[in-house]
Parts: sequence; structure tokens; C-alpha cells
Amino acid sequence: MKKVIQTVRGMHDILPEQIAAWEQLESTVASVMASYAYQQVRTPVLEREELILRPVGEHSDIVQKELYRYESSDGSVMVMRPEGTVPTVRALANANATNQPSRTWYLGPMFRHERPQKGRLRQFHQFGAELLGVDDPSADIEIILLCWRLWQQLGIADKVELQVNNLGRPAERTQYKEVLTDYLTKDLDKLGELDQTRVAQNPLRVLDSKDPALVPIIKEAPTLQEFLSAESQQHFAQVLTAIQAAQIPVTENPQLIRGLDYYNLTVFEWVEIGADRRQNAVAGGGRYDGLAAMIGGNDVPGTGMAAGMERLLQLGACHDAQALPPRAFLATSKDALELPQLLSLAEAVRNAGVSVQVHLRKDKIKNIFKHADSSGARYAVVIGPKEASSSQVTVKDLRGDAEQQTIEQTELANFLSNL
Ligand code: HAM
Repeated sequence: MKKVIQTVRGMHDILPEQIAAWEQLESTVASVMASYAYQQVRTPVLEREELILRPVGEHSDIVQKELYRYESSDGSVMVMRPEGTVPTVRALANANATNQPSRTWYLGPMFRHERPQKGRLRQFHQFGAELLGVDDPSADIEIILLCWRLWQQLGIADKVELQVNNLGRPAERTQYKEVLTDYLTKDLDKLGELDQTRVAQNPLRVLDSKDPALVPIIKEAPTLQEFLSAESQQHFAQVLTAIQAAQIPVTENPQLIRGLDYYNLTVFEWVEIGADRRQNAVAGGGRYDGLAAMIGGNDVPGTGMAAGMERLLQLGACHDAQALPPRAFLATSKDALELPQLLSLAEAVRNAGVSVQVHLRKDKIKNIFKHADSSGARYAVVIGPKEASSSQVTVKDLRGDAEQQTIEQTELANFLSNL
């Protein structure tokens, strides 16, 4: 038996019947972004490898295992973007647009060569918002309020909860990492191979370990909070107070480390209530003050969010979206009009702003109405031999009980646009 070639593993087609939900999601995102005065930016799918490595983290899973790499003929290495924050900051820095505070958003496919499992795709879609140039906690708060408004508009606000953590400043983290490394080294033999490597590379990641044997060790571990300056604590406290004042359900999660290295101070994830965070975060984000400087730009602070669109749809966002059917279905029967003439009649109808699906076959009247009905069109416009001989058309309302009417072909466009 013939077998059709399949898509690449972890990458899916979005089929016509799914498009209505996607379009509704995209337009809701665009309108919420506009309501916060964010402007869209579009960046290439391929980026230079060196752009991604440092900010995302040399030892992060994304860099170590999940980058789609490609070596170009001149020997330079490109990667398919695994996320949108670094490319967005690069685009703004390249355009010399980081001197003023800026608000941008993006939407598009991202690529991570993850182990395929539920909720994890290798090509998935994110939209995100990035607010550059403001170090005040109010910027973090704006991003979180923007998320909350989105979830409400998408009808999933009661299905998600916010988890937040304070990662402090890099110097505070360095101190903490030393103490944590000492603590974890005492129990090194109880750690699996992966977590042992993490102790050496980035001990914070051990706090996010999936290994159940580590639960008691992690529970007793020194916490980062003890190493945070009063200033860092105050930044986070202001964010938390505003979240609570907005009555957004929130949990502080000291184990929330995030899979990307560029964060400091506020980090957050929106998680499906009652589900495992690692597979069911619908969105994540936080503050990334050192990122712009790290890629060679001005030292501007930044904060932002990104959401997984497949996960939002999975959670029920836009599930009632319906594709817009054509307004009219235009057909001719045998011994009536020639199909090219039918097409030019359809063009006249479209010129009047009415959508029309043309039945590209001379068919029996009974079949015409069957196809017209399944097209979802409101009106069937039919030209049989009688109508053809008198340059007329018959218009039938398929969804209401208005009388069928026969009118001049030259009148059709006007007639339909006035209905
Ligand atoms: P992230 O947490 O890596 O953050 O990804 C954000 C969201 O993208 C996740 O919460 C999830 O919904 C979705 N996602 C990630 N990986 C996959 C996957 N393999 N399959 C399906 N969905 C996935 C970032 O990417 C940061 N750039 C967010 C950010 C913006 N931070 C500051 N500004």
C-alpha cells in the first residue's frame, strides 16, 4: 500500500478545521497587545548560534540538547530560534531602538528538539511581550496584568494560576550558588548522574529536579531568599503586592528556576491548575536586566512573557471559534452557463464585497443544493437553462424562510450586498 510521507516528529500541521481557533487566538492576542500599546516585531527563524548560547545558558537543556543547528557554507553556525526574547532584544539593539523604553510583541514558531511527550512539541508557537528600558517593578507588574487580561479574554482565567519567585541579582545568586554547591556536594552520592553534573554547572537547576529521591534534600536546602539584598526583596515585594491587589491567584514557588539563564529578580509561570508545572506551563517570563548588554547592546533592563499557543488551545482557549462560511454559493446546471461565465459573475459579486464559493462543475439541481448546504453559505445562487436563456439567476435563502427570487444577472452583486 502507498504510504504518504509524514511530518517530522514533534512538528504538526495546523489543518483547515483548526484554523478558526488559531485565528481567534491570534486576533485576541493582537488586540490585547494593542490595548497595552505594544507594537509587533517579526524576527527571522534562523539566528547566529553565538546570539543564543550565552543568554539562554551554555548549560541549559535548551542549549545542551534542544537546539536545531545548521552549519552554513561559510562555516558559521545558525540555530533555529528556540524562543523569542533574545531575538527581539537583538532586533531592537540592531535598530538602535533601546535608548528609549519600548514595548514590543511577537508571535511565531519556535523550535526545540525536546524528547517528544505530551504537551512538548519540537515546533511550537509562542506569542510574547517584551518591555525594555524600565527597571521599576511596575514593568513586571504590567506584564503580569497583560497576561491576566489575556487569560480572561481567552476564557481560561479560571484554569490557570500564577507561580512566582525572586531570583535576585547575579551577585546574590553567585554567593548562594557557592553555599548550595557545598550543601549538595555532601549528598552527591544520592544524586543521579544528571543532577551531579548540574551541581557542577548550575546547582540552582537541582532545585527543579524531577528525581523524587531528592525531595527531602531540596526541602532542607538553604534558600536563595537568605542571600537577597533588601533592594531585591523590596522589588519582589512590590510585584507581589500588586498581583494580590489585582486579585490574581498566585503562589510563591522558591523552586521556580526557569529553563533559561538570562533571568534575575522576578520570574513567573502560569500553570494549569492541578497539573504538573513542567509539562503544563502555558506561559512563563520574568526580568532579564543583563541580557541586552550580554549580546553587545546597551545595558538596558528588560522584562517580558511568552505563552505556548498549542497549550492555550489545549486548555480550551477559543474552542468555540467558527470558520466564516462564504456568503453565497454560485452554481450552474447542465445546458446553462459555461463555467468561465460563472466565474466572471462571481467576480462581480466579490467586487461588491460579498464572498462567494463557485461550484466548478455543471451539476444536477439536486446535487447543487446538497453542495450549497454543506458549504455553509447563506444563499444559493443557481443558473439553470431557463435562467441562462433570460440572463437571470435564482437566489435561494438556505438558512431562512424568505421566498426564492429570480433576478437579472446584472443585479446579482447589488442584490446580495444589500441583503
Ligand atoms: P519558556 O517558559 O521557555 O519561556 O516558554 C514559554 C511557553 O512556551 C511555555 O510556558 C510553554 O507554554 C511554551 N513551550 C515551551 N516549550 C514548548 C514545547 N516544546 N512545546 C510546546 N510548548 C512549549 C520563554 O521562552 C521565554 N522567552 C519567555 C520570556 C519572555 N521571558 C521573558 N520574556
